[in-house]
Amino acid sequence: MLPRLYVSGGTCRMPSSPSRERLSVVIGGHVDHGKSTLVGRLLADSNALPEGKLEQVRALCERTGRPFEYAFLLDALKDERSQGITIDTARVFFTAPRRDYLLLDAPGHVEFVRNLVTGAARADAALLVIDAQEGVRDNSRRHGYLIGLLGIRQLAVVINKLDLVEYSEACFHELAGEYTRFLAGIGLTPRQVIPASAREGVNLIGPSDRIPWYHGPTVLDALDGFAPNRPPAEAPFRMPVQDVYKFTGDGDDRRIVAGSIESGTLRRGDELVFYPSGKRARVRTLEAYPGPAPELLAAGAAAGFTLEEQLYLTRGELATRAGEPRPAVSTRLRVGLFWLGARPLITGRDYLLKLGTARVPVRVESIQRSLDAASLTTRSPADNVLRHEIAECVLELGRPLASDTVALSPGTARFVIVDEQEIAGGGLVHEALADPRLPVREKVLLRNYKWETSFIPAELRSERYRQQPTLVLITGPRETDRKHLAKALEARLFEAGHVVYYIGMANVLYGVDADLAREAANRAEHLRRLAEVANLLLDAGVILVVSAAELEHDDLELIRTAAPPDRVLTVWLSGSGAEGTQNVDLTLEAGAPLDQQLERLRALLVARGALRDVS
Ligand code: GTP
Ligand code: MG
Repeated sequence: MLPRLYVSGGTCRMPSSPSRERLSVVIGGHVDHGKSTLVGRLLADSNALPEGKLEQVRALCERTGRPFEYAFLLDALKDERSQGITIDTARVFFTAPRRDYLLLDAPGHVEFVRNLVTGAARADAALLVIDAQEGVRDNSRRHGYLIGLLGIRQLAVVINKLDLVEYSEACFHELAGEYTRFLAGIGLTPRQVIPASAREGVNLIGPSDRIPWYHGPTVLDALDGFAPNRPPAEAPFRMPVQDVYKFTGDGDDRRIVAGSIESGTLRRGDELVFYPSGKRARVRTLEAYPGPAPELLAAGAAAGFTLEEQLYLTRGELATRAGEPRPAVSTRLRVGLFWLGARPLITGRDYLLKLGTARVPVRVESIQRSLDAASLTTRSPADNVLRHEIAECVLELGRPLASDTVALSPGTARFVIVDEQEIAGGGLVHEALADPRLPVREKVLLRNYKWETSFIPAELRSERYRQQPTLVLITGPRETDRKHLAKALEARLFEAGHVVYYIGMANVLYGVDADLAREAANRAEHLRRLAEVANLLLDAGVILVVSAAELEHDDLELIRTAAPPDRVLTVWLSGSGAEGTQNVDLTLEAGAPLDQQLERLRALLVARGALRDVS
């Protein structure tokens, strides 16, 4: 069989044949050490190039008076518009006799991290290329470190450009020894260290008499020797939810949950649990466009499915299968990360963390230590992480996030950090730590898991009532008259035909909470129960107006943990005194005219999509 070649785009239109094994290998190493040459030559020598491509590129070089480079092949393939090919970073798919490969040729750190962490193809293994003449350089060490940091345990080292040192065995052994010692220091053991000359095609796919002293594997042998991380079928099912699509047919209210399967398999009838919400439903159908629904979808596949019970799901949830090891859900993570940003990573600043399809605001809570990935000098304790440093940190997330450990599912253990729209770092979750909301969240996960879904989907209720269920929490200092405002809002919405209900704290305290003393130690439980009551009424489609004195940040977070967070609006009714700035959706002045306050509340509800069709 002749190998075939594809260069795929950022959205990975990679052909995948279920019967062929596929392995992703990221190529790393210092600038100009020959990574692209190695990939280009590997393709050329294994007959993986399209007919005539090599001659075409050679001819072009001759015409333009440039010396021919194998690396040009990759660029030339990028321009294969006729085949509908476009690429961002070099992702080269090729079919070798043993299996299919996706080679990720990373020109720089950011691309290297992106290749390791994001996209449809995550690396199973790494090939690190070192120039025999230049020797081990900063990026050789940094890329080695990154591989270890991100939990990739399979790697091979290529000592390249041996032609420049007259194929010296001594030179090869010296470099192999130096780099292997460095890797050992960071806990990595390469499977092989392979002598080669990419440009001369020495020892890439076959043995060469230029290095008679060497009897080990070729570069292709090394690739063939890597094992896929874990046979996908054995791994627990993980699918980050990309989107939820609506069927638009008459009377057809189905929703397709779509995403790319990270690990495991999916069948009709499987019972799924989505995290961080903990919601549960059975798979009704697997969907495919075009064509018949598949029986089974496995890791790597783009999946679409409908559910027996209609759940309210959003992008960023992680689909898992009931009965399998579950991901951790937390707002605090202990991580190892690598910083690439020109500005140092500092505590207290806002960043964005991307893991799977989730995008979550993040801050660094603490930095245990940081270390220069090239020189291995350590700073501890550190209050920032400089470019090219590795750090052990605790991250604090703005919202709960579902994550795994690398042993369970590498794809949902690796993340990147974005600073002002740019990827500025990447890392691996070591451990999800307990956060203050953990006890409440565990109750909520169980409640959602056990939840009995009625025949009436939330959307039907929402259409009938012309509103989105919403909890309006009106809080503020003790002296303000929150109750009056809350009751007036209820009355105004009721008049306008809405399904609305007012709850004062006393209604809960002396009823649902009758068994709980009114003391500080019980505050969290009081709030949890209030949020549980709210959750029931929200599920019934109601707009709920609650007044409560002096709810603080932690109280609001607790309520957002037990009640659906995207359905909670917070309003601060400020008194005469100076109060600390509250992170709320709306602040009103206690002294302002009631009509004006009500108008602003209504405008907020409209802006947040809670009220439809209101006059
Ligand atoms: P960046 O993508 O810029 O980091 O570089 P790279 O690692 O992809 O290196 P590339 O393949 O572009 O090669 C850099 C230069 O080294 C080119 O001029 C190659 O021709 C040359 N080169 C690569 N491999 C060999 C080799 O085995 N022997 C010799 N003599 N030159 C080589
Ligand atoms: Mg290159």
